[in-house]
Amino acid sequence: MFMKSEISLLQKDDLEQFAQVIVHAYPMPYQNSIDDCIHWIRDSLKNDAASIKYYKAVKNGTIVGGMRFFDFQMNMRNVMIAAAGMGLVAVNPLYRKEHVAKDMLHFFIEENDRIGYPMLVLYPFQIGFYKKMGFGYGTKQRMYKLLPTSFPEGPRGQLLFLNGQDAASVSACYEKHVANTHGTTRQSQVNFEKMLKNFHLKAVGVKSNGRLEGFIIFSYKRVKPDLVYENDMHVHWLVYNNREALTALFGYIHAQKDQIKRVYLNTQDEYFFSLLEDPTNGESDAFNSEKLECYTTALGMMYRVINIPGLFRAYKAQRFGAESLTMKMTIRDSFFQRNNTSTTIRFDAGYAEVLDDLKKYDVEIAMDVSDFSSLFVGAVPFEKLLQFGLAEISDPAYADVVSRTLNYPKKPMCYVYF
Ligand SMILES: CC(C)(COP(=O)(O)OP(=O)(O)OC[C@H]1O[C@@H](n2cnc3c(N)ncnc32)[C@H](O)[C@@H]1OP(=O)(O)O)[C@@H](O)C(=O)NCCC(=O)NCCS
Repeated sequence: MFMKSEISLLQKDDLEQFAQVIVHAYPMPYQNSIDDCIHWIRDSLKNDAASIKYYKAVKNGTIVGGMRFFDFQMNMRNVMIAAAGMGLVAVNPLYRKEHVAKDMLHFFIEENDRIGYPMLVLYPFQIGFYKKMGFGYGTKQRMYKLLPTSFPEGPRGQLLFLNGQDAASVSACYEKHVANTHGTTRQSQVNFEKMLKNFHLKAVGVKSNGRLEGFIIFSYKRVKPDLVYENDMHVHWLVYNNREALTALFGYIHAQKDQIKRVYLNTQDEYFFSLLEDPTNGESDAFNSEKLECYTTALGMMYRVINIPGLFRAYKAQRFGAESLTMKMTIRDSFFQRNNTSTTIRFDAGYAEVLDDLKKYDVEIAMDVSDFSSLFVGAVPFEKLLQFGLAEISDPAYADVVSRTLNYPKKPMCYVYF
């Protein structure tokens, strides 16, 4: 049995010890020296205090681990909810496998449950590690590697270069996008300003009626280190609020065909390929030549629901399909006992009400919290969980009704990385 770590907010006096944990935990630190790392954390403590909190894990007076929490506003099923993110998880290698990370994860869940956040998110360093702790898969990322001519050539409208002075209009354009896009999180204007001022990033926008309706932020990378004039374009952000904006941005990319070899574009839009005249990536390793390779995929953001009744109460004004039924949900949560529970919910033409009486229901479903989290965010439908044996149902005749109630037709999109 290992001694439990004490978790608390990082103080200014802790910076040196905390930085030592970071540089030892991450074999490839972002900084060149311990002083760089200290400055980086000090700057963040000062500038990001409104949205990022740093925590330390202590055993016998020594800092053995650290992490930081992010406050996000996330469009989840068309409702803006508060979601907490966790990053920079680091454990001093001298104290590994003593459950320091487990203690920190527990604290992350407890603390945000106390504050009343129903949803947690993170980017996993290893999927299995967090899956065991109740985090579910989100949407697949797709990395396209396209010829510029694959982008349709259409009217380019009113294109312009964007710089630091355009941060407010870029931010307003993105806000509009977030209001209409499931899974996206709000971003501060300062973040956009930093990107737009970064000399190595280029930004092109498109205006209509004087308002910015779409933008791309990208960089160039040489195809080979010595080939000065042979570059790929790496698109980091593609945001558009209407069809005209998308057409104009694609027209811009198409017009760069003399200069750009391939366009690298990372998207969670599962239908993106249907927009392109040639979605292939020029590789044939995975499928020989009978089938044409289009993109490579990865799993990114993971999601975790920590309070099932609280979550459904937060959605009382939102419809879950249009069915009327009483459903008992039994969620297995081995990592967070308070959430390892059954909840009975009455859906009235899709409107959910959490009931106190657990005994009277039409159908009971059961599953692990990680799978429920994926289902709630729309990353996987109920019928698939049932087919794979990841969910159980008391009466199979209700399977379609439960699917129509709990499924969400869109997969969550997310642009932030933390
Ligand atoms: C990854 C890293 C944070 C792990 O830290 P660690 O303190 O060694 O990990 P832990 O000892 O807490 O391991 C997790 C424990 O929780 C346990 N656990 C996980 N889910 C559980 C569950 N649902 N119920 C009970 N226990 C659970 C695991 O079984 C494991 O215990 P075990 O080793 O006895 O099996 C650390 O190696 C590190 O700092 N790596 C470098 C930086 C990095 O990659 N950070 C992550 C970025 S996201």
